[in-house]
Amino acid sequence: MKIANSLWFDPTMIYIGGQWRKPGHADTIPVENPSTGEVIGEIGQGSAADVDAAVVAAEAAMEGEWGRTPAVERGRLLARMAQMVLSRAEELAYLESTDVGKPMKQAQADAVNLARYLEFYGGAADKVHGTTIPYQEGFTVYTLREPHGVTGHIIPWNYPMQILGRSIGAALAMGNACVLKPAEDASLSSLAFAAIAAEAGLPAGALNVVTGYGAEVGAALSTHPDVHHVSFTGSVATGRHIQEAAAKNVVPVTLELGGKSPHIVFDDVDLDAALPTLVGACMQAAGQTCSAASRVLVQRGIYEEVRRRMAEVYGGLVVGPAPDNCDLGPLVSKKQKDIVSKFIELGKQDLTVAAEGKIRDDAPAGGNYVAPVLFADVSPDHRLAQEEIFGPVQVMIPFEDEADAIRIANGTEYGLVAGVWTRDGGRQMRMARKLNVGQVFINNYGAGGGVELPFGGVGKSGHGREKGFEALYGFSRLKTVTAQHG
Ligand code: NAI
Ligand code: MG
Repeated sequence: MKIANSLWFDPTMIYIGGQWRKPGHADTIPVENPSTGEVIGEIGQGSAADVDAAVVAAEAAMEGEWGRTPAVERGRLLARMAQMVLSRAEELAYLESTDVGKPMKQAQADAVNLARYLEFYGGAADKVHGTTIPYQEGFTVYTLREPHGVTGHIIPWNYPMQILGRSIGAALAMGNACVLKPAEDASLSSLAFAAIAAEAGLPAGALNVVTGYGAEVGAALSTHPDVHHVSFTGSVATGRHIQEAAAKNVVPVTLELGGKSPHIVFDDVDLDAALPTLVGACMQAAGQTCSAASRVLVQRGIYEEVRRRMAEVYGGLVVGPAPDNCDLGPLVSKKQKDIVSKFIELGKQDLTVAAEGKIRDDAPAGGNYVAPVLFADVSPDHRLAQEEIFGPVQVMIPFEDEADAIRIANGTEYGLVAGVWTRDGGRQMRMARKLNVGQVFINNYGAGGGVELPFGGVGKSGHGREKGFEALYGFSRLKTVTAQHG
């Protein structure tokens, strides 16, 4: 089946300055359906010159209609886009699900989340402002919050709609003009979104989308001297390139680089309530989630029980094609399947397999399916307990007490999210303070959700905060005005 027939935009075109145009390279990039392995269409391959053109269009937007659009009107535009996303939520979910292999119900949630970001940032657009500062006699001092100007957005393939929503939504709310480079494995929803933005009446050049490979389009965007802020979500290796480029241009960056996030389960946990989330917070998007809870630290006294109960849940997990809404869909690409399969092979050499899920017998042979694996009794310094796998794999690590839990939880290079499971209120507060992460969940865990909640990491998980109101400060800059009037 070719997906192109059902689209309301031409995926071989890129979107610059309010116009759809042919990209610089004549060769296209195939679009694969991860559930079947079939090529179902193609997207355009942009070039470095296309990025130059997009930046020029974004600069023109800042000088033109978009730059003059008041905050209230920017908010209305975002609200209109939110409505249009909601009215097309099914089509968007179908596109995303077919492009990245996400089970339909997860893709539907992503589409609603995209709308939610646009609503949230639309409502916030006219509520971010400067302050007046008491100073010396005869002076009035105030601050202005201004857009950076042209912002670059390089997003990955795991949650394209959510990540473009949080990044583009906040940047547009603050009046920036955006150049978006989606991942080569997952560009359809970004192009669909550009078409929606155009239909909603977003002024030309406020949003530009250039599809293509990271090595050319992503690199051109992140090194461009006229891009004033870069927001990146993806791997640590690519994040380093982005930060190096930003250092040369002396511009701010937001890096969200994944993690090795722990659940920390104490022996007073309400296990019945926790159990679905202990597993689900990693199986969502088949483990391809930056904030996946991939380590499960369990206090010794209840370790065997948690292991047995989690193994039961694993035994019931089914992997299958995205439209069938199994617990897990396929991984996004053959490349990702290889990365994850190598980790699983490595684990099976010297670790205990506590449980495995099943790939449905009739799942197409060409799909990128990986059965989820739970490893038990893993030493905290094992590679599988230290490195991001980005697949449906969890490791269980026993711990003795609070101090031990903190040491293990903080003992990786990452620090994105942590889940603390205990009914003891004092322990909840102590743990929340001592964890070196950007976000703590107490008796819950929301991998990906919660548009209102500031999100970002410490250590190799990156820096800067997206989501929530906080992102609006990151996507703007402060000017202090000191007037002497006697
Ligand atoms: P990646 O970091 O290479 O790709 C993310 C984005 O960066 C894509 O849009 C890509 O085109 C772009 N990109 C690639 N090279 C670039 C360059 N030199 N300059 C500018 N942009 C560039 O990640 P990839 O290869 O897709 O996945 C590899 C691993 O990265 C995964 O296994 C996972 O561990 C991690 N990852 C983490 C994500 C997160 O949510 N934090 C998302 C995706 C991947
Ligand atoms: Mg695809």
